[in-house]
Formats: sequence, structure tokens, C-alpha cells
Amino acid sequence: MKNILVTGGAGFIGSNFINHILSNRDDVFIVNLDKLTYAGNLENLADSEKSKNYTFVKGDITNNELVDYIFRKYEIKHVINFAAESHVDRSILGAQVFYETNVVGTCVLLEAAKRFEVEKFLQISTDEVYGSLGETGLFTEQTPLSPNSPYSSSKAAADMAAFSFHHTYGLPVVMTRCSNNYGQFQFPEKLIPLMIINALNDKKLPIYGDGLNVRDWIYVIDHNKAAELVWEKGTPGEVYNIGASQEMKNIEIVKLIIDKLGKSEELIQFVKDRPGHDRRYAIDSSKIENELGWKPEYKFEEAISDTIDWYLTNENWWKRIISGEYQTYYKTLYGNR
Ligand code: NAD
Ligand code: TYD
Repeated sequence: MKNILVTGGAGFIGSNFINHILSNRDDVFIVNLDKLTYAGNLENLADSEKSKNYTFVKGDITNNELVDYIFRKYEIKHVINFAAESHVDRSILGAQVFYETNVVGTCVLLEAAKRFEVEKFLQISTDEVYGSLGETGLFTEQTPLSPNSPYSSSKAAADMAAFSFHHTYGLPVVMTRCSNNYGQFQFPEKLIPLMIINALNDKKLPIYGDGLNVRDWIYVIDHNKAAELVWEKGTPGEVYNIGASQEMKNIEIVKLIIDKLGKSEELIQFVKDRPGHDRRYAIDSSKIENELGWKPEYKFEEAISDTIDWYLTNENWWKRIISGEYQTYYKTLYGNR
């Protein structure tokens, strides 16, 4: 049995990861440590909660005593760190919690992993640490770090801390840097679920700037299969970029959603740009493909349709979310834009 501490497992990618692992293998025991911030939702884990190989602890990764207790009690030998403040726009509204969770929290986990001599520490990072691309070129693992937002700078700082623990103490750290994810359970502050839900409610679709910024989209299950592979087979000290070579302009994504939902393009509203908005992200994932044999399995056309269908059939999930704190957030970010 492999005893894994998965952090942030009630969020979008972490919950999909836990559901994927527990429905496909029985050689792991997962302790999910999650603070249940606005982004954490135990409803995402309804299936996993039935598993005897799963337990949940509500708590903060910055809490040294709690983290120490979990490592001791569950004899943790593997860490997969998804926990983070993850939204760029929120980091622009208030940066401090991003450094607390993403940097200090990661350091608390690294210290405990060192003390308890873990066999693998997977740090889930992001392609946003590389900064922004021009019209051509791809991010490789050699691209220098050049983060632009408080979010991406906090992730880059965590990356540096993680590799310093590898270099200094020999902690077996591996890292993934993935492009933009989409899929079920994504919180509707991110582009795709926000646009789906607004369109369903016949609300304006706020596109920042000229709508020509480019993101490289990957289905969350493809990301999670890659993360699983890097956790088990990745070489300590190495970074693996993950992407599905699916570059899209924001306006194209929004028009595709409008089209699939049979709505009018009159819903589109160009609004004031995001400060410091990165122009283009695009990933070269040849390293993980050549060294670990990973390949994306899902076609964008099908997976985005499945995602839209999921939001159509799971109204209860997102209606509960948008009736809460979300209202205040939405007014603050979009009210005077
Ligand atoms: P999310 O915001 O949906 O979920 C984050 C989870 O972390 C939530 O469940 C939240 O409750 C938990 N959390 C936050 N602060 C915590 C703390 N101090 N202690 C314990 N738990 C805490 O994020 P996501 O989109 O699922 O992203 C997960 C990870 O993947 C992040 O590290 C993010 O940087 C990275 N990533 C995301 C994307 C993307 O497209 N969403 C792409 C690449 C990398
Ligand atoms: P987002 O989902 O926030 O991901 P990230 O900024 O981390 O890549 O945004 C994706 C793109 O969509 C980004 O270029 C910003 C843009 N965007 C909008 O135009 N309008 C919106 O309301 C949101 C949330 C994002």
C-alpha cells in the first residue's frame, strides 16, 4: 500500500485526481488535506468518500502541527501538492493569501516530507511560471521562469523552494507544469465554466481586452494521468511540462460555447483588460511524451462538449456555488469593468 498525502483534493483538479486514482487502483491510501476555501467542495468527492482507501482531513497546509500529525498518524510516504490559491484575478485583488498558501504552505509540506523521509514529493506547478509568449514559440522545461502575476510568482517561488529541498537535502521532488485545464467540477471563476454558466443564464459574457489572448487547453483527466505518471516514474529533480497542443484564442472558446448552447453572440461584452494580462501560453510536452510515454487521450471537440453537458446536467452543483460568496466576488471583479 502506498500512503499518499494529497493536498487540495477538494478543488477542481485534486478532486478529479482522487476520483481517477481510487476508481482505477487499490494499492493506494489517500489522505486528502484541504482547507475548504471558497474553491473546495466535498460534493466533488461523493464517489471517493465510499472508498476504504480514502480519508479526509479539513485543515490548512500552513499548519505545521497538523501536517506533522498527519504524516505520523498515516505513515505518509508520498505527497502530491495540489493545494493552492489558483485564480489570477483573485491574486490581483489581494495577493497575500497566495504567498501564504502557495509559498509558505509548500514549505511546511517540504519540511515535513524531509523529516519523514518521503519516497516522492510531486509539486503541481503551472506553465504560468514561464511568463508570456509572443505569437510563436513554446514553453519548454528550459524556458527561464518569468512569472507576471501575484499567482504565478507565488507558484514560481514554491517551485524554487521545492527544488532547493531536492538540491540541498536530496528530497525526491518531481514537478509538473501544466497548461490550462477544463472539465467537470471547475469553479466558475475560470474562463470556461464562467462563460458556460453566464450563457445558460443569458448573462453577458465578459471578454478581457481584445479577446485574442491564447491559452493551450487540456482536459483535466489527461493532466491527472500525466501527474500520476510523473509521481510514480518521474526522475527526482526534474520538471515535466504537460499540454495537449490545443491553442485557442479566448474569443474562439466563447463563440464555441455560445454555439453549443444555441445562444446569441450579442451576449459577448468586451470589458477592460486584466492588468498584466499574459498574451499567450503554449506548451512543448515532448519530454514527458518521450521519457515517460504519456500522450493526451482526449480530443478537444469531444471533451469540451462533455464538459458543457456536465454543467447542463449538474445545475445543482453550480447553482449552490453562484448563490453564495461568488455574488460578492462577481460584483467586485466585473461590476465596474
Ligand atoms: P482550485 O482552486 O479549484 O482548488 C484548490 C484547492 O486547494 C481547494 O480545494 C482549496 O480548498 C484548497 N486550498 C486552498 N488553500 C489551502 C490551504 N491553505 N490548505 C489546504 N488546502 C487549501 O485549484 P485547481 O484549479 O484545482 O488547481 C490545483 C493545482 O493545480 C494548483 O496548484 C494550481 O496552481 C495547479 N494548476 C492549475 C491549472 C488550472 O488550469 N486550473 C493549470 C495548471 C496548474
Ligand atoms: P483563466 O481561466 O482565469 O485562466 P488563466 O488566466 O490562469 O490562464 O483565464 C483564461 C483566459 O480567459 C485569460 O486570457 C483571461 C480570459 N478571461 C476573460 O476574458 N474573461 C473572464 O471573465 C475570465 C475569467 C477570463
